[in-house]
Amino acid sequence: MRLLKTALVAGALAVLSVTTIAAYAQDTKIGFIVKQPEEPWFQDEWKFADQAAKEKGFTLVKIGAEDGEKLMSAIDNLGAQGAQGFIVCTPDVKLGPGIVAKAAANNLKLMTVDDRLVGADGKALEDVPHMGISATKIGEAVGQAIVDEMKARGWKADEVGAIRVSYDQLPTAVDRVEGAISVLKANGFKAENIFDAPQAKTDTEAALNAATVVLNAHAEIKKWVSFGLNDEAVLGAVRASESVGIPADSVIGVGIGGADSAINEFKKPTATGFVGTVIISPKRHGYETALNMYDWVASNKEPEKLILTSGALAKRDDYQKVRQGLGIE
Ligand code: GLA
Repeated sequence: MRLLKTALVAGALAVLSVTTIAAYAQDTKIGFIVKQPEEPWFQDEWKFADQAAKEKGFTLVKIGAEDGEKLMSAIDNLGAQGAQGFIVCTPDVKLGPGIVAKAAANNLKLMTVDDRLVGADGKALEDVPHMGISATKIGEAVGQAIVDEMKARGWKADEVGAIRVSYDQLPTAVDRVEGAISVLKANGFKAENIFDAPQAKTDTEAALNAATVVLNAHAEIKKWVSFGLNDEAVLGAVRASESVGIPADSVIGVGIGGADSAINEFKKPTATGFVGTVIISPKRHGYETALNMYDWVASNKEPEKLILTSGALAKRDDYQKVRQGLGIE
């Protein structure tokens, strides 16, 4: 009798687990958390992640988390909703070990995008799959675009100041600006003509404030170039130059991104000091990471540990073509 009961229970359990698996496959739920939801780059990432969700039939839960506290509760929230994994661009890379622990406690698979997590020693957490841009290379492309424009305008390096809009707590930000600086220096720019403008946040307003301090401190310099983490940083420096009365043809700013912040600038009837941007791909960062996470959850296929994406320079006159080439138009 007891044996029979055991067999019945086992059979029932087997049926139950089959239905559980079936339901599980249908209800794949993936989180996509970003640090700055209002920034066009992140809006675009979400847009392309949505596209992956539609194609594969999973649920995408989009959450903005501007600080660590919001991020931690977002992860708990995903766990409570029965999500199986999430992609995150963290507001602070130093939260790395905490994020890993929170994900594990909620039984969630974790992949990062854009900003790579670091441990207590400041080194990247290499076990967490990550997709980011090839920051140094893209920074070099920014530097080259600036140098080319200086040559086209007949500027001499020693009469020009450079605003390094910086956010040095973020490794990818350091790699990007240092990439640009290496090219400037290789083309005759002196280190003492490069001025640091540390931004408190990675948005245009914070960059404007930081750049204004530099411009006011060096009113004797009449020609300026500028670079930074993203388009918002460079747009802040360009707005600062306008507000202190420097004409557009005395400013060369080259950003990174190529989302609406840059495109709207290119669409202005007259050219500003924002000369170009290295367009990176929100499609790869949004669509592909979402797909990678889906494959991991649904087919147990773990993403590559590190995927680095490239960029392409675009200016006012050719940005549409460049965007089409990247499949983001
Ligand atoms: C960082 C920046 C964003 C964007 C991404 C691209 O997260 O803050 O603006 O440039 O990198 O990876």
